[in-house]
Amino acid sequence: MTTRNVHGQVLAACVAGFALVAPALAQAQEAATAREVRLAAPRATSEFSVEQALRTRRSLRSFAPTPLTLAEVSQLLWAAQGITGERGRRTAPSAGALYPLELYLVAGNVTGLPSGVYRYRPAEHGLVQVAAGDRRAEVAAACRQSWVAEAPASVAFTAVYARTAKKYGERSVRYVPIEVGAAAENLALQAVALGLGTTVVGAYDDARLAAALGSAADEQPLALLPVGRQ
Ligand SMILES: Cc1cc2nc3c(=O)[nH]c(=O)nc-3n(C[C@H](O)[C@H](O)[C@H](O)COP(=O)(O)O)c2cc1C
Repeated sequence: MTTRNVHGQVLAACVAGFALVAPALAQAQEAATAREVRLAAPRATSEFSVEQALRTRRSLRSFAPTPLTLAEVSQLLWAAQGITGERGRRTAPSAGALYPLELYLVAGNVTGLPSGVYRYRPAEHGLVQVAAGDRRAEVAAACRQSWVAEAPASVAFTAVYARTAKKYGERSVRYVPIEVGAAAENLALQAVALGLGTTVVGAYDDARLAAALGSAADEQPLALLPVGRQ
């Protein structure tokens, strides 16, 4: 069975499961099960200005051993790819509004969230678990950067180039990395505003990272952002 088939079956099971529990979840601001998580609505305002975030952002590679909260995870994912407008428009721009990016949360120390790999679902502002267990060591090994495993969680950005290429052809080779850069910077600035820090990691073995994430065969890993407290 291919990785894509396994992933597809897990996702199908998750979607079916989500439909069954959706009414109960709607009553809770934040609820978690083994396979799907409805995240709390992100906050829309802050005392921390964009200018402050720009002024103080610095790559962070050393993290306190304290957990992230689910509310922080919610805010970070929303900042990167959250839905903010009609017809699915998001926090980050996308060529032709085709949205080639997929986000994975590699959770190892997040309060209220079992360790595992989760795919972010912008439409529901939720997570679907795609792998159980702490995969931080595998992700760090794929990067050959041991500090990556010390972050309580990382957000991996992958892209399905075909979504953009169907309209823009070879131009997608330019457009998709631009989109990753915009989304990653959104997350980085949001991290600063939350009192957290991150680093954009681009050095990793693509196949090893994809295996650690359990991402689909048509997805290209493009960036990894370990996040934590200073
Ligand atoms: C495309 C890209 C790839 C990067 N890859 C890594 C990486 O693999 N490991 C790492 O520690 N930092 C990585 N960085 C972070 C840079 O080293 C960092 O941004 C740079 O030293 C400037 O420091 P600052 O981010 O604190 O301003 C990467 C940054 C970019 C933009």
